[in-house]
Amino acid sequence: MLIFVKCSGLQLRFASVCIGWYGSGRAGLFYFYFLLLLQYYGRVIMFEIPESVKVWSQFGHPVLMWVLLGLSLYALYLGVQIRRTRSAEGEAKKELIKGKFNNRHYQMGSLVLALMVLGSIGGMAITYLNNGKLFVGPHLLAGLGMTGLIATSAALSPLMQKGQDWARYTHIVLNLAIVGLFGWQAVTGMQIVQRILERMAG
Ligand code: HEM
Ligand code: HEM
Repeated sequence: MLIFVKCSGLQLRFASVCIGWYGSGRAGLFYFYFLLLLQYYGRVIMFEIPESVKVWSQFGHPVLMWVLLGLSLYALYLGVQIRRTRSAEGEAKKELIKGKFNNRHYQMGSLVLALMVLGSIGGMAITYLNNGKLFVGPHLLAGLGMTGLIATSAALSPLMQKGQDWARYTHIVLNLAIVGLFGWQAVTGMQIVQRILERMAG
């Protein structure tokens, strides 16, 4: 018997000659179901995202990233307060401890980490959907670099909590590099936004 499944959206052709085997009980039946599933998912993948959704989604990433820049600066402020709390003495220290800056920084840092990883992947996905390719330029490379740096910086958390000073200083250096690169991303990102707007107008 010959089974032929064609999922034209993917140009995926799946031909199978299973004379004898198809008829041989359970294995053949599972194979048949597998082919049906393939046909079904082939159709799902063929679903086209509407043009307007594709075009407007290009503004989601810049908006998210401006919010994230604000959150990163807030995380920096909370981190500086942790240092102030540690070095303060007497009444001033008691007051600062009430701020629970270490907890708040950890929570804000975790949010920044998650949004940066998802935002970066999202930026690439949207670029790919709209252009059929990625642009290996400063924005992509700095973006991927920042995503790697923040993962490394967050991975130092257990060591910082054990009181390792080298981990604290590494964390600070990595995050200052991230904040600096963020400024650069905002400039190159807005240049891309401008190009998208020009393309939409023309
Ligand atoms: C833009 C992002 C960030 C900046 C600017 C930043 C900055 C800082 C600074 C200045 C400190 C104080 C270091 C010290 O104790 O001397 C600190 C501590 C710390 N950060 Fe971050 N950080 C960022 C993101 C993160 C992330 C993503 C995580 C983890 C998910 C994280 C977890 C921690 C922890 C656990 C500490 C130690 C707190 C303590 O001593 O109890 N930070 N950070
Ligand atoms: C305010 C800051 C930012 C703005 C305004 C911005 C804007 C943009 C725009 C308009 C695109 C192109 C989307 C498209 O073509 O459909 C893009 C792509 C991208 N963005 Fe951002 N972005 C910013 C920050 C960031 C940050 C912080 C990261 C990473 C941590 C990042 C990572 C990426 C990546 C990886 C791409 C895909 C680039 C490519 O493949 O060509 N962006 N961004």
